[in-house]
Amino acid sequence: MFVKSLIHPTRYAFPNLPKTFQLTRKMSVLVKSLKYSKHGEPVDVMEIVEGQLQDPKDNEVLVKVLAAPINPADINTIQGKYPVKPKFPAVGGNECVAEIIAIGKNVSKLTTGQHVIPFATGLGTWTTHAIFAEEQLMPVSSKIGLAEAATLTVNPCTAYRMLKDFVALQPGDCVIQNGANSAVGQAVHQLCRAWNIKSVGIVRDRPDIASLKEYLKSQGATEVLTEEEIRTSTLFKENHLPRPLLALNCVGGKSATEVSRHLADKGVMVTYGGMSREPVIAGTAALIFKDVSFRGFWMTRWTKENADSPERIHMFTELCELIEQGKFVAPVHEMVPLQKFKDAMAAVLDFKGFAGKKFILDMQN
Ligand SMILES: NC(=O)c1ccc[n+]([C@@H]2O[C@H](COP(=O)([O-])OP(=O)(O)OC[C@H]3O[C@@H](n4cnc5c(N)ncnc54)[C@H](OP(=O)(O)O)[C@@H]3O)[C@@H](O)[C@H]2O)c1
Repeated sequence: MFVKSLIHPTRYAFPNLPKTFQLTRKMSVLVKSLKYSKHGEPVDVMEIVEGQLQDPKDNEVLVKVLAAPINPADINTIQGKYPVKPKFPAVGGNECVAEIIAIGKNVSKLTTGQHVIPFATGLGTWTTHAIFAEEQLMPVSSKIGLAEAATLTVNPCTAYRMLKDFVALQPGDCVIQNGANSAVGQAVHQLCRAWNIKSVGIVRDRPDIASLKEYLKSQGATEVLTEEEIRTSTLFKENHLPRPLLALNCVGGKSATEVSRHLADKGVMVTYGGMSREPVIAGTAALIFKDVSFRGFWMTRWTKENADSPERIHMFTELCELIEQGKFVAPVHEMVPLQKFKDAMAAVLDFKGFAGKKFILDMQN
């Protein structure tokens, strides 16, 4: 088959070959993928599997994956505790940034050398190389950093939708969230700053709480309190800040109940995570006297229901502009060589807590 790539198939072995060598014969790329064939703990069931990739078909592209994060949902999916059930054997991972190295002859919107991120969900991104259909990918400017691009499609989009879709927030309004140092939480603070919304973050206490508070404020948080401090805080009672119209719940349990107590009349709490593994319990008084509402949000569902919508394109455009303007950065993270995936995966849902960073697999090392 003829492939429009300008990269020679054996270029990996012979890097001095000219970049513009026209490909006219079959190419074969060695691929290493993090795969699993049954549910279980990632350390037990995930393994690096080697294989070969052949030419992309006419409407497909061959990519070299550069970086791919490990999100809590990826671990839950491997454990079999997530509503997304992959077919086995499955490649883990749902996000990445990749570089296109070859395109099929009918591919019209993407080209070699471009950086791309998934436009579809559940592609299986923990792999050094992959072949995807053109419409499953979206180009991003190579001016966007690898960590920002690799982590764009899940957490920033979740933060964006939760801030846009439940309450019509105006500049000066206030939002409160627990798990405020999570990747979603960091995105919420930065978007609130960009949109002139006040954001109050609640985090668990820890030895280095002062530096965490300082970091989250540098991202745009108006105020950061520990779970203990919010219980006795007069921040809203004494009108230092307007009562929040929106609360974002990453944690559940007592933390969620406490946060919901601070909502304004007819305020809305949106639950998107359950990190404490405790149910959400609504305070009776808040329900009766303030008529607060409890809603849920799942990015995967929103993406399926809005796959080709103008809102989705607008969201990605706005997020990419903020990144290019330096107003939105990746969550605190560590790049981890693919070979060291086990340590990183064990740390993601370590319930002793305080991992304090997102692990991003460096797929080419
Ligand atoms: N619904 C959706 O569409 C959607 C989208 C994206 C993410 N999520 C969910 O949102 C949550 C956060 O995701 P992420 O990628 O932002 O995670 P992350 O960056 O790994 O952060 C995890 C957060 O959870 C906190 N945490 C962990 N264990 C906790 C516990 N026992 N009690 C209280 N807090 C705890 C951590 O705080 P410490 O520093 O105190 O440990 C940290 O703030 C996950 O549950 C994820 O599945 C949902």
